[in-house]
Amino acid sequence: MPRHLFIPDFYLHTGMDAEDERKGTHFTPETPGYLDAVYSDQTLVTQFIEYNGWPWPTSSSTAPSLMLRMLQDLHVHDGMTVLEVGTGTGYNAGLLSQRLGADRVTSIDIDPELVALAGPRLQEAGFHPTLAVGDGRNGFPEGAPFDRLIATVAFDQIPLNWVQQVKPKGVIVCDLRHGGAPWSGALAKLEVGGDQTASGNLLACPVGFMSARTQVGTPGTSSAVSIDKTTCHGRETRVGGSSAMSPGLALSIWQRIPNLVVYPGEDTFTIVSGDSWAEVSLHEPTQVTYSGPEDLWAVVEETHAWWRASGQPEVQRYGITVTPDRQWVWLDTPDRPVAV
Ligand SMILES: C[S@@+](CC[C@H](N)C(=O)[O-])C[C@H]1O[C@@H](n2cnc3c(N)ncnc32)[C@H](O)[C@@H]1O
Repeated sequence: MPRHLFIPDFYLHTGMDAEDERKGTHFTPETPGYLDAVYSDQTLVTQFIEYNGWPWPTSSSTAPSLMLRMLQDLHVHDGMTVLEVGTGTGYNAGLLSQRLGADRVTSIDIDPELVALAGPRLQEAGFHPTLAVGDGRNGFPEGAPFDRLIATVAFDQIPLNWVQQVKPKGVIVCDLRHGGAPWSGALAKLEVGGDQTASGNLLACPVGFMSARTQVGTPGTSSAVSIDKTTCHGRETRVGGSSAMSPGLALSIWQRIPNLVVYPGEDTFTIVSGDSWAEVSLHEPTQVTYSGPEDLWAVVEETHAWWRASGQPEVQRYGITVTPDRQWVWLDTPDRPVAV
């Protein structure tokens, strides 16, 4: 499947002088090194949205090794139907069409512009899968039930619509990740059961996807939060900011502080949730300054103690279960929820 058909232009940080140091170099087929970059194992950003004074990447062609790994986890067989959430360039829809036949592939993206570009590229490659514009959280009821669902954009919850639109014993592969704390996530591979339930293990994933947008014109990132430093408390802590970035622990912290937004700085690490915030120094002895109704760092410290007592689990020891009423992340077995 020729990748260049799907990526006639993109941005990449090459280390050379970039026209725009925030976005990287803009490559087109005329740019020296274009084909080398297209056929390298790199994520190539194809769209930015200016938001809060910063260009946020809102679409890309994912690194081929990660695409391959997710497709392997999806475990498709001849005759199966697939819903992809996150059409982007259309390249992954092309790969799925090549494997299964385009009539068995549906791909949906929230951005009509991207879908309009992906269609002709897929046709040029010889494929006519069903493409749709919409919020992937809703799935695509018109095409359900599917044997498989793959989301190539990160969601912080598994939408129940997906579970309802995938056949029993079907598989959902998704990047489960929270926009406010991007390294807190992992790939999730769930098997759908009867009664609108799904459950499965998390799989380590060193790089995460961009977070799902809720509106086409805004990136899927958390909005900046202002911090009021007029009244605050301080103390020493034995849990430093960097330890909270270990993937297994970060995942547990996110489960216990669901609205968490993290701001890693050069000398400090700040977390915010609602009206509460905590800022820890990144040097020993670690000082924490905090304010608001909840001592957020105390939650981090408790979670850290629980995580250590549990053997410092990596993300592969976690899993997720979805039912019509609730969903929860667990350690080892569904009866050990992470959030208490
Ligand atoms: C990493 S790109 C997908 C790459 C794509 N699979 C490919 O092969 O080029 C993520 C895509 O998800 C889309 N997206 C973001 N939020 C979404 C949502 N709520 N529903 C559907 N698509 C969404 C973005 O517009 C973006 O195109």
